[in-house]
Amino acid sequence: MDITQFKITEMPFGLRLRSLGPDMTIFDYLKEEGVRRMVNDHYELLVESSIKDLFPPRGELLEGAKNRSADFFVQRLGGPQYYKISRGNPMLANRHLPFKITPKSRIVWLDCYRLVLSKFEGIPDDLILSFWKWLDEFSNWMVNQHDEPQFRMNIKIPRQ
Ligand code: HEM
Repeated sequence: MDITQFKITEMPFGLRLRSLGPDMTIFDYLKEEGVRRMVNDHYELLVESSIKDLFPPRGELLEGAKNRSADFFVQRLGGPQYYKISRGNPMLANRHLPFKITPKSRIVWLDCYRLVLSKFEGIPDDLILSFWKWLDEFSNWMVNQHDEPQFRMNIKIPRQ
């Protein structure tokens, strides 16, 4: 699919849309193996991206992160409940709190995802776009800090 079909929506800080979630029929096409490949490819792009410092370097730790994330996506799309068994309730916004995730980080994260999705073959476009819409919206839940202001006024406030 043409990558320009995947729109990244700018959202106000703190907006948490509760849409219906992705059309889980996509799992019939991807199957567990396809979901794991998708997550793998996404992480491989993330660790080369401008937000790579958020993620573990390539190696055992990165493989662990890919696994946890893939377990979640398999479960979310209607496959086995691996995530629930190994990690419990997702509560993903909470789990992202230790990381500084700004509106710009979200855009990079989504940008890496749409590159992966644009390369899917043999899956109906509407299913891919439904998955994308969910990612676009849900990703804003993880944004927990503002971007740095472009400049600061150099005023020193005297301490008493
Ligand atoms: C907004 C952009 C996002 C950024 C920058 C981001 C970043 C991160 C980071 C740094 C971690 C910890 C390292 C790791 O285990 O990979 C993580 C974990 C995770 N992320 Fe995200 N994330 C984002 C959005 C999302 C979204 C939208 C989802 C789900 C749809 C998601 C699902 C997960 C899961 C399942 C984990 C593993 C949590 C665990 O340890 O059990 N993330 N993410």
